[in-house]
Amino acid sequence: MQILSERTITVDFLKRRPRRNKKSFAIRRLIEETVLNPSDFIAPFFVTPGLNKKITSGLPDVDILSADQVLKSAEHLHKEGVMALILFPIIENSLKDSIGSESYNESGLIPETVKLLKKELPSMCVITDIALDPYTSHGHDGILDDNGLVANDPSLEILAKQALTHGEAGADIVAPSDMMDGRIGYIRNKLDKQNLSDVSILSYCAKFASSLYKGFRDTLGSKLVSGDKLSYQLSPSNISESLLEAKLDLEEGADMLLVKPSMFYSDVISKIKNFSDVPVGAYQVSGEYSMIKAAGKLNYLDVDSTLKESLISLKRSGADFIISYATEHLISEKTKFFY
Ligand code: PBG
Repeated sequence: MQILSERTITVDFLKRRPRRNKKSFAIRRLIEETVLNPSDFIAPFFVTPGLNKKITSGLPDVDILSADQVLKSAEHLHKEGVMALILFPIIENSLKDSIGSESYNESGLIPETVKLLKKELPSMCVITDIALDPYTSHGHDGILDDNGLVANDPSLEILAKQALTHGEAGADIVAPSDMMDGRIGYIRNKLDKQNLSDVSILSYCAKFASSLYKGFRDTLGSKLVSGDKLSYQLSPSNISESLLEAKLDLEEGADMLLVKPSMFYSDVISKIKNFSDVPVGAYQVSGEYSMIKAAGKLNYLDVDSTLKESLISLKRSGADFIISYATEHLISEKTKFFY
């Protein structure tokens, strides 16, 4: 009885009732401000030489694939509306050296994979990562000087050679992730001189020296022999520096910008998006993806809804697109993909 009489009480001063906009599924869908679409995603792939290979990686439910298997998976994703992928090579130790010379081998793993993908699936946008860490014996993203420090300017030439090799193989976008000063301008100039002005540059402008890359480095087998990446990647404490990097990359001709990692850096995504006149993406890196998967396996949270919530938070922060290891997972959960 008590309950019934409470139902008759109306609060007449409540002119605005936000609950009215939540009253049905139809209205909730109608007023959605942020949505996830398959075309918002870039699917990352770890590539290994050979045929018909699927090897466990350092990330939950992500395999290292040979190029033919990358193609198979890419065909499926593309059919479901994913428009782009990014490739990371697993380079055997015998091919690694101090200057990462395998990185510009025209018939190396990445150029050959790009050629196959662009031949068989030309409408899929193929992106390659530009950095030396998969190819160097010391695991750094550039080459070292006599004192063992990463030498900026000599590294630019090798990075540009790598970008040219990928561009010539047919990559639609090259994505420098090395964080050397001036690499966007240097690479742009070299590409243009080689008649590759159609190749776009997606710059990892705000790449932080993060603890969240372990699964990736373990997968690549790229261990730092000495030192750390603090002399070129950004300090997690500094936002102004990331804005400076973004501005410089825009001045040097970046076509798109990328913030990485993503969930701990959504303030950076928002700030860069506010002034950038090119698209801004976010990279949900190995550690971010793996912690959600791992917590799910321990039953501390629900993987599907947590992944979607994490990804929608990135779009809400301003990301125009997202690199995520969860792309394939979300596509296979197609009917639940959208909120
Ligand atoms: C290399 C590179 C890294 C990642 C992407 N490109 C690792 C690093 O900087 O050590 C990490 C991505 C991930 O953790 O998923 N330049």
